Amino acid sequence: MFLFTLDSRSLGKCSDCFVCFLSTFVPILLMHSELRITSDGSHTLYVPALDETYHSHHGAIQESEFIFIERALRSCTKKHVSVLEVGFGTGLNAFLTLVEGAKQDKLILYEALELYPISVEQSRTLNYPSLIAPLLEKEFELLHSCDWNTKVELTPNFSITKYLADFTSFVDWVRYDVIYFDAFSPEKQPEMWSEEHFRQLYDHCHNGAVMSTYCSKGIVRRAMQSAGFDVERLEGPPGKREMLRARK
Ligand SMILES: C[S@@+](CC[C@H](N)C(=O)[O-])C[C@H]1O[C@@H](n2cnc3c(N)ncnc32)[C@H](O)[C@@H]1O
Repeated sequence: MFLFTLDSRSLGKCSDCFVCFLSTFVPILLMHSELRITSDGSHTLYVPALDETYHSHHGAIQESEFIFIERALRSCTKKHVSVLEVGFGTGLNAFLTLVEGAKQDKLILYEALELYPISVEQSRTLNYPSLIAPLLEKEFELLHSCDWNTKVELTPNFSITKYLADFTSFVDWVRYDVIYFDAFSPEKQPEMWSEEHFRQLYDHCHNGAVMSTYCSKGIVRRAMQSAGFDVERLEGPPGKREMLRARK
């Protein structure tokens, strides 16, 4: 997947260089995505160049709610919760977290990394607000339209900083209570799932922090364990046998 290693910060450096041309247009082509409907009626995005969807076809909302909200966020008993999401994508996990924070009266400090953001126009085609919380449609739009690299308070319970950044070279870590590890699969993006990167996450977790992911592969579990995490293989959401939850 050498294409993913192209550095978006070099975009548009010069107009006549072939490398700059490639680094501008290849990621755009690569991340072109199409709207798909999943089994629970919620949307996901399909990336033809990767032959990969952003969520399980068994149900995008069902999967996110189960893996990230139920198995990670709800296992954190703190009132102030610092959440990191690797791969902001459609904003579904962030939106479910905003809704959960309001229900449980938690104060959520959310940070999300994304290298290939979808457009605000594309986010408007997603049916998440109407299926999850119609009264919060404006907040879902704001999740996408708010500035990058700036902390924004979207509701009294939920602040977000979205970093337009490459996870594999990110440096502005804080400390986290909960991590949603939601990268594309290790087959498609092996560089995201390395022991080295899990160790970096481990070093930036509070003691007791929890990280969950939809992936249950042995190679990922061992990389997390070598990085220092205690890792459980848990029953997955409907349609998926297993998932992983790691704890510091
Ligand atoms: C499985 S999708 C994430 C789904 C997302 N959590 C959601 O709720 O829609 C993986 C995401 O990782 C992003 N991504 C890919 N490479 C990345 C990188 N090196 N750094 C940060 N994000 C990356 C993709 O653009 C995509 O949005």
